[in-house]
Amino acid sequence: MLTSYDYSMAKLVDEAGVDVILVGDSASNVMSGNETTLPITLDQMIYHGTSVVKAAQRALVVVDLPFGTYQGNSKKALSSAIRIMKETAADAVKLEGGKEIIESVDRILSAGIPVMGHLGLMPQSIHKYGTYTVRAKQEEEAQKLLEDARLLEEAGCFAIVLEKIPAELGKKVAEAVRIPIIGIGAGSGVDGQVLVIHDMLGITQEFSPRFLRRYHNLAAEIKGAVGSYIDDVKSVNFPSEREQY
Ligand code: KIV
Repeated sequence: MLTSYDYSMAKLVDEAGVDVILVGDSASNVMSGNETTLPITLDQMIYHGTSVVKAAQRALVVVDLPFGTYQGNSKKALSSAIRIMKETAADAVKLEGGKEIIESVDRILSAGIPVMGHLGLMPQSIHKYGTYTVRAKQEEEAQKLLEDARLLEEAGCFAIVLEKIPAELGKKVAEAVRIPIIGIGAGSGVDGQVLVIHDMLGITQEFSPRFLRRYHNLAAEIKGAVGSYIDDVKSVNFPSEREQY
């Protein structure tokens, strides 16, 4: 699984053969430059989702429900999920949390909308944690995470994202439930992996957690190409005879 937020990138990701495209609320960070995922709105997620769905020929498309559209109010959760499904034509929605949001998960599932869970580090709860450090290192939090994973499976979620937890716990959760566990910083003992596309392509430069493998340095490539364009325009090397009418 990889994230995408726009048509052109989603088309490349889909054509490259990824199974699931996540229209993550990380769009708030990488597309809008916000420090957290909290500011992104449902309308903005629908805009990103619609663009991605148009590009996806084969991948399953999952859209994040943004902060404030499902917590503490299962009726609001259902109407938010229905808007996403109706207006984007995505395949599923993703929500952060376990027991605290189970009523919302149940209600969305009862409308026939597939739900992906998200446990471990939950960026929408950053102000509760205070930091983006590894979660569930202590036994009590690890136990709760395991129970939440079982609860989400029982409710009918089709998969769960596990973010930034010890690898040993990731493996334990993957063994404890039958639905696929997709890890991001959750080790190799889970069923699949997810990364933010801008991070793995090296477009973002400041973000360097241990779990991130950069497969390219697109920042350097893009800056190099833009620099060459500036030089060519200034020296009137562009456009050439063949590039004009
Ligand atoms: O918003 C997002 O991109 C995510 C992934 C990091 C799993 O939730």
